[in-house]
Amino acid sequence: DMAEKGGHPDFMIKEILEQPRVVRDTLVGRLTGTGELDIDELGLTYEELDLIDRVYVIACGTSYHAGLIANNLIEAWARIPCEVEAASEFRYRNPIITPTTLVVAVSQSGETADTLAAIRDARIKGAKVFGITNVVGSPVARESDGVIYTKANKEIAVASTKSFIGQVVSLTLLALLLAQVKGKMNTRQVKLLFHELGDTAEQIQWIFDTQQEAIHEAALACKDAHSALFVGRGMGAAISYEGALKLKEISYLHAEAYAAGEMKHGPIALIDPGFPVIAVTTKSPVYDKTVSNLKECEARGAKIIAVATEGDEDIKQIADHVIYIPPVRDAFSPITATVPLQLLAREVALMRGCDVDQPRNLAKSVTVE
Ligand code: G6P
Repeated sequence: DMAEKGGHPDFMIKEILEQPRVVRDTLVGRLTGTGELDIDELGLTYEELDLIDRVYVIACGTSYHAGLIANNLIEAWARIPCEVEAASEFRYRNPIITPTTLVVAVSQSGETADTLAAIRDARIKGAKVFGITNVVGSPVARESDGVIYTKANKEIAVASTKSFIGQVVSLTLLALLLAQVKGKMNTRQVKLLFHELGDTAEQIQWIFDTQQEAIHEAALACKDAHSALFVGRGMGAAISYEGALKLKEISYLHAEAYAAGEMKHGPIALIDPGFPVIAVTTKSPVYDKTVSNLKECEARGAKIIAVATEGDEDIKQIADHVIYIPPVRDAFSPITATVPLQLLAREVALMRGCDVDQPRNLAKSVTVE
């Protein structure tokens, strides 16, 4: 058992620590000498891709959170209207689908029942489908026009970590491809972003090498709470959703995530002295706005844990605990900023005596509705 875990106490930590490799493997060989992106199975011609005028990203669970990030990137870079939706919702409404609609299905296992049903339905309605999956030859891979494999290798812990990072990297490639095909980015810009994307592997390693103590302290501050709130804006909001999901699924501590600007419309009522607020306050165009939301929490006695950019000393004035990530372009911040939240969730779960690999009531893949 210990050998299977590579000498680590649980699969979750083994898989978290593999993430720099997942970034590298997912990117290897993807950029040709002429600056074209090389996708496992493109399935569609550039002409067909250029005609795409609407994108839906559909997924479940952690994969849905990767979709939230893709949604931001596809709209920002390719300028195509994009929506992200839980597959279980998408399949039971009547979304607008035409032959120029692209449905991007994200699934680690490639066999989640709702995601597969949504793909089938979308294809009947004429959509093109692109799959992002970790399992070669899985139903999602077989039933999609195009595929990008996430190269995470087998993931055993029920709570998804390394495959999430592989999904975000793969979806970033897809967003770059769409931007290139749509003429919104030239080869030089694609190359620059591609190399910066690769740099996140070392940035994740830096977090492992320098932030363990800070994460441990933050976990001690959360472990006896009844509830915790995760907040951020923009990419920080998407990261918060994933952070809250990780914490609740393995530690059974109630956690919810909110876009920081929405706090004043409800969740701020929860805050009393000592209430943990985990905030993603990395440097971004909305940094100041997030900090002002945090000041409102601080004034009500919240215990604030901030995930911030290395070098940001000011954040220490409001945060009780700070976990740093290296400076990174906002578009790539989810790849690094999610990692300390995975580690935080695991530490809290262990402190609470939980089995981090096999949380109660959950399954690794959900093949029935
Ligand atoms: C289950 C797993 C989650 C996963 C979700 C979607 O709930 O416990 O970790 O995110 O299914 O799975 P998929 O394989 O489609 O990504």
